[in-house]
Amino acid sequence: MTSPESEQKKSFPTTVIALAILLVVALLTCVPYLVSIALAQGPTAANALPIFGVTIPVNYKQWELIAPAEEAAPVDELRAVVGNQAASEAYQDGKLPFPDGTILVKRAWKRTQSPDFASATVPGAATTIQVMVKDSRKYAATGGWGFGRFMDGKPVDEAQHRTCFACHEARARSHDYVFTRLAP
Ligand code: HEC
Repeated sequence: MTSPESEQKKSFPTTVIALAILLVVALLTCVPYLVSIALAQGPTAANALPIFGVTIPVNYKQWELIAPAEEAAPVDELRAVVGNQAASEAYQDGKLPFPDGTILVKRAWKRTQSPDFASATVPGAATTIQVMVKDSRKYAATGGWGFGRFMDGKPVDEAQHRTCFACHEARARSHDYVFTRLAP
């Protein structure tokens, strides 16, 4: 004879198993959805820039410094141009034109007075990320360079991308359309 008490004990694991199954089913339903969200936020076609399809390189924050720069008022920015390995090797060897696979990234921050030392200028909020990717076939019409400009991680509009090459072409043609020289 089973007492009501032991009946209760028996139903306990059954409930736990039922709940566990429910949880697994719920997780399995959610995972593909979560993965698709994660992928959508990565450098997919939707996030790529107009015209050139350039994206923000994943590890550019670890890249080598080519040179710092500063932009006067009203822009008031500190900048650092960094490059991937192909870029820094080309710079070291003084190789021109830059080889395919070269990527240059210009990082920029608001120019801010140091809170600790009045005469020191330090980077404030990050403003834009600008990218140049060398692919002499794909970007043959623009000197072999694809251009990308991002604000808050998002590409700016097409009109802005139409301005990039014109200025680089007009002023930096003799240096493969790249302004920045290796800092000594
Ligand atoms: C009116 C001129 C002008 C325009 C337009 C322009 N740039 Fe530049 N760019 C410069 C100058 C000058 C530098 C040198 C670094 C500095 O002073 O900030 C530079 C530097 C760069 C660099 C670092 C490599 C180099 O050439 O020194 C990248 C990357 C870059 N620009 C991307 C872009 C992108 C992307 C656009 C379009 C959205 C763009 N630029 C539009 C003038 C321009």
